[in-house]
Amino acid sequence: MTNDVLLTHFVQQEQRTQVAIGSGVLKKLEQFLPPNTSKVFVIGDSIVMSLYGDEIKSHLSIETSLLSFAPGESSKVLDTWFELNQQLEQGAVDRRAVVIGLGGGVSTDLAGFVAATSLRGLDGIFVPTSLLGMVDAAIGGKVGLNSGFGKNRIGCMWWPKAVVVDPDVLLTLPDLETSLGLAEVIKIACVDDPPLLDLLLAQPSFRPSTEVIIRAIKAKLAIVERDPFEKGERAVLNFGHTVGHAMEACSNWSIPHGDAVALGMEIEASILESISGIKWRDKDKFLRVREKAELTRILEHQPVTAWQDLLNYMASDKKSTGSKIRFSLPSCFGGGPGNWTVAVDLEVLETL
Ligand SMILES: NC(=O)c1ccc[n+]([C@@H]2O[C@H](COP(=O)([O-])OP(=O)(O)OC[C@H]3O[C@@H](n4cnc5c(N)ncnc54)[C@H](O)[C@@H]3O)[C@@H](O)[C@H]2O)c1
Ligand SMILES: [Zn+2]
Repeated sequence: MTNDVLLTHFVQQEQRTQVAIGSGVLKKLEQFLPPNTSKVFVIGDSIVMSLYGDEIKSHLSIETSLLSFAPGESSKVLDTWFELNQQLEQGAVDRRAVVIGLGGGVSTDLAGFVAATSLRGLDGIFVPTSLLGMVDAAIGGKVGLNSGFGKNRIGCMWWPKAVVVDPDVLLTLPDLETSLGLAEVIKIACVDDPPLLDLLLAQPSFRPSTEVIIRAIKAKLAIVERDPFEKGERAVLNFGHTVGHAMEACSNWSIPHGDAVALGMEIEASILESISGIKWRDKDKFLRVREKAELTRILEHQPVTAWQDLLNYMASDKKSTGSKIRFSLPSCFGGGPGNWTVAVDLEVLETL
């Protein structure tokens, strides 16, 4: 493959996922299908399916069915999973069928869970089309659904055979979705690749270059490869998410995830600064990149949830232990092997 970047991600010795990134790489989709594929089911929301379904079909010489569902987080539920399963059965799914998850994180989470559970596990390929999907949701082997008990409460670890990332599809992605996806790029930069902040600042516009996407994917893959089953290091990927998640929940999910994480990172870094006495070297760059990514919308909407409400939510969250709240600990604050999170007393947080 010329000009494309091909990364091989080893989950376990025998199990690997190829990650292909490059302009126009979608045309080479067929070469990532496992040998002897019988048929292909492309699963994605109706927006991405109307934009890219026929194109995907045109790049495959094998029988291909396009299965779509209503866009949005509310589709990432058991009912949609059941309907898609029915459609696979009606399409005579067999053990050699392959599922392609096409779209943002909602589509790949849902398609991946359908693939993982149909006939006790089919092979699959992800074609992420949102920035968040490319740098986050499609990378890392986590698929699943929301339930009445919360987000991503049903799911499993499942890795596609390949993730095919064609940055050209971002041309149709609305600016707001690009901005929200940048929150995860900024997070991975803060956690694992601070020079990526410089690259983001040097970009002519807030739309990320292919180089930015490759860097963000490489950084996440490296962390996931060291911790494929989320036993330790992957916790650093939650930087900004303890506070961010509380903001989303306290706003009854009216604050988008990216906006909440963007503010969450600043707040968590200040907490870490005050408890560790370490100064956040990248703070200024972070603030400038966040502004450039237009991730300051939340600051313009007063009132942002009161700190005490956020604390109450965090204390009630299942991840907190007793009167302590757990935060991710990026290496710049002393994180490192065996030291990925820090638990801070609620009483201390109340005084900040
Ligand atoms: N599995 C994981 O590890 C993981 C990690 C992070 C997030 N997630 C999940 O990802 C989901 C959020 O993903 P998201 O932000 O991509 O949302 P999404 O999938 O809903 O996509 C956002 C919107 O953009 C549209 N869209 C996507 N690509 C497009 C394109 N190229 N052109 C035009 N429109 C396009 C979609 O139709 C949708 O309306 C959440 O459910 C979250 O839980 C999963
Ligand atoms: Zn996130």
